[in-house]
Amino acid sequence: MKIFLDTTDITAIAQLSETGLVDGITTNPSLVAKSGQNFEVLLREICTLIKGPVSAEVTAPDHATMLKEAFHLAKIAPNIVIKVPMTQEGLKTCKVLSDQNIMVNVTLCFSALQALLAAKAGATFISPFVGRLDDIGLDGLDLIADIREIYDNYPAFKTEILVASIRNPAHVLASAKLGADVVTIPPDIFSKMFKHPLTDIGLDIFEKDWEKTKQQILKA
Ligand code: E4P
Repeated sequence: MKIFLDTTDITAIAQLSETGLVDGITTNPSLVAKSGQNFEVLLREICTLIKGPVSAEVTAPDHATMLKEAFHLAKIAPNIVIKVPMTQEGLKTCKVLSDQNIMVNVTLCFSALQALLAAKAGATFISPFVGRLDDIGLDGLDLIADIREIYDNYPAFKTEILVASIRNPAHVLASAKLGADVVTIPPDIFSKMFKHPLTDIGLDIFEKDWEKTKQQILKA
């Protein structure tokens, strides 16, 4: 399973990408607003740090302007993925872009039927938002299971399921068990995935016992 970071925080991207475990980045207009930075400057910076897919969202509501924005953003770097909304205009744009081998991430997906249409439109990624479904009392992970089942029924679909709006490490675990292709997670959730209290306790014991041996693996 690929791990993307859902952030515009350059410091976090730089630091966490050093693990070698970050496969890509997703951004959205809200995250850009939160950063207070210029969108294109931000994208250029991210693309110097991350060679995997970097999602950049168009903001126009209509197909013609969306397409112009998409071509503009796609010029920034070869790893830019154009993020389009899960609307009729968005999927029309997705089809044109995917026919030209430009990667597309269809965002704001809340139903399996939407995911079916996005796959037909040639999306590289579909982004179902699990947390926002949980927020309204539904089970976002049911949507991941449904999309997985549908996509597996049609091997011609090449769209990857990119689980978005992840709120906790349990969402990541469940997504992996359901066979999601990608999760996009905020940096703090990525950091939490490394941790277990028994790892810390065990490491402490090993360090203390090693000191008792008075040995060093590397001699000074
Ligand atoms: C995905 O691409 C979105 O940027 C993101 O996961 C949305 O998450 P939120 O519901 O926490 O805003």
